[in-house]
Amino acid sequence: MRARLAGEPIKITVDGKVIEAKQGEMIIAAAERGGTYIPRFCWHPRMRPVGMCRMCLVEVKGPRGFALMPACFVPVADGQEVVTDSPKVKKAQDGVLEFLLINHPLDCPVCDRGGECPLQDQTFAFGPGESRFVEEKRHWAKPIPINPLVALDRERCIQCSRCTRFADEVAGDAMIDFIGRADATEVNTFPDRPFDSNFSGNVVQICPVGALTATPYRFKARPWDLDVVESTCTACAVGCRMALQSSSNRLIRHLGVDSDPVNHGWLCDKGRFAYEQTDSPDRLRTPLVRKGGQLVEASWNEAMIAAAEGLHRAGNSIAMLGGSRLANEDAYAWAKLAKGVLRTDNVDCQMGDGLPAELVLGLPRATIDEACAASAVVLLAPDLKEDLPVFYLRLREAAVDGKLTLIEMTPHGTGLSKHADVRLQYRPGEAAAVARALAAERVPEEGAGGVTAAAIGAAAEVLGAAESVVVVVGRASLSESAESIADAAGVLSAAMPDARFLSALRRGNVHGALDMGLAPGILPGRVSLDEGREWFAKAWGQVPAARGLDAAGILA
Ligand code: SF4
Ligand code: SF4
Ligand code: FES
Repeated sequence: MRARLAGEPIKITVDGKVIEAKQGEMIIAAAERGGTYIPRFCWHPRMRPVGMCRMCLVEVKGPRGFALMPACFVPVADGQEVVTDSPKVKKAQDGVLEFLLINHPLDCPVCDRGGECPLQDQTFAFGPGESRFVEEKRHWAKPIPINPLVALDRERCIQCSRCTRFADEVAGDAMIDFIGRADATEVNTFPDRPFDSNFSGNVVQICPVGALTATPYRFKARPWDLDVVESTCTACAVGCRMALQSSSNRLIRHLGVDSDPVNHGWLCDKGRFAYEQTDSPDRLRTPLVRKGGQLVEASWNEAMIAAAEGLHRAGNSIAMLGGSRLANEDAYAWAKLAKGVLRTDNVDCQMGDGLPAELVLGLPRATIDEACAASAVVLLAPDLKEDLPVFYLRLREAAVDGKLTLIEMTPHGTGLSKHADVRLQYRPGEAAAVARALAAERVPEEGAGGVTAAAIGAAAEVLGAAESVVVVVGRASLSESAESIADAAGVLSAAMPDARFLSALRRGNVHGALDMGLAPGILPGRVSLDEGREWFAKAWGQVPAARGLDAAGILA
């Protein structure tokens, strides 16, 4: 038989139907793509399989004939025969469900998961219909808060280990685990330690029963009452895909949607729970105009007239701020109003990032996928765990799996420090000195923090051998100088002409707003300062005075 080439699809038979499968994938995934759903509880496509629940038992033909095997734990093999609907499989499914329901309470009518519960659905679809067990079920105090956002009802837990694996494997916050043995096994956090994770809401979403529920959503709605719209989170620049769910015209839940190039279905707690601000009574609902020193409610017409009068009074002395969370179309309209109508170039959209627009737009851009697939990543950036949380999850996964080498160039430790292969910790403001030392492969100039020649040598060796390099660029904090970061990025760009750059800008759409011209000296779609100067000279009869950093010089 000819050897298979890497990546070449293979063929397996599921219930008599021949389907194509990817090498290395599990039977459960291949069967689903081929149109056969195999029931499951513990298997999750974004986590490593554990074969805990046995709900996915199917018959797989081996050298000694057909045998029951967990479809989530057995990889496909060329010519493999799988049967998912035989009497033997049905008997196994009946047994597993009857067993799981020995202790699971029958409280679907008062459980938040009712109506969207895999245990409920699969009991109807694959279960025995009745139980032989009449013994008393286990009881626990319920619910217990494991943090301010997540409540735990232990007696509903079917011990699938999805939450514990997510916390340990995906988030790196192993703060929830199994305690006790046999019949006394319970899932819980460590005594007096809350589930203190930026990603705790994900365990609620992936729990296949109502054991973990979100405190802000508990008893607010039933799933069949919800209106759903898919959208993008704007709470940071990662742009996670999410489903916005509302009931009675109020936003009441955000769920992660699996977007392959972005979030893999995960959300951070900021993105998942920040919806409560939408209906906050503190939000502005009508325009306000200051009268007699007080802001008073006004009609839109009145407010527009007051704003226009204010702009006339200001003459040539106008600045416009904002746009970092707007859609590109809104940012374009804002830039056009500033530069085309008000004739001001005093515009900015970067609150708290402050990198020169020409630098951000001029460097060759990398995507999240490209960063996670690079052989080396240089982190010249803020703490991604805090500022771009789901990007942190993606990079962490790649680093833990040994797919990339991480060089951390930050003035302080970050969530990724423990996964970094080389750490170049410098004093704030001295990033450029370290970058220059790295480019020249020599000891940093005096004053460049505590970075040693050995660390520089190790980083230079990694970068020299790497097939692809992505540099994540952003200011570590407001105390870090934008000049130094821009300078460092320019040095790294010159030293590694093939490297790509991923800007770690914090707000939802700073990049889009810059693309649309919301920065001094640039115009929508034009990143070249020369082109911008030409346009200003033609339209205004003059070129606006240069201000801020001369990023063109940095990149020259
Ligand atoms: Fe599984 Fe939910 Fe129990 Fe965690 S709490 S082990 S996700 S059933
Ligand atoms: Fe939203 Fe950013 Fe969190 Fe994703 S990582 S859910 S985009 S705040
Ligand atoms: Fe396969 Fe749980 S889904 S053992």
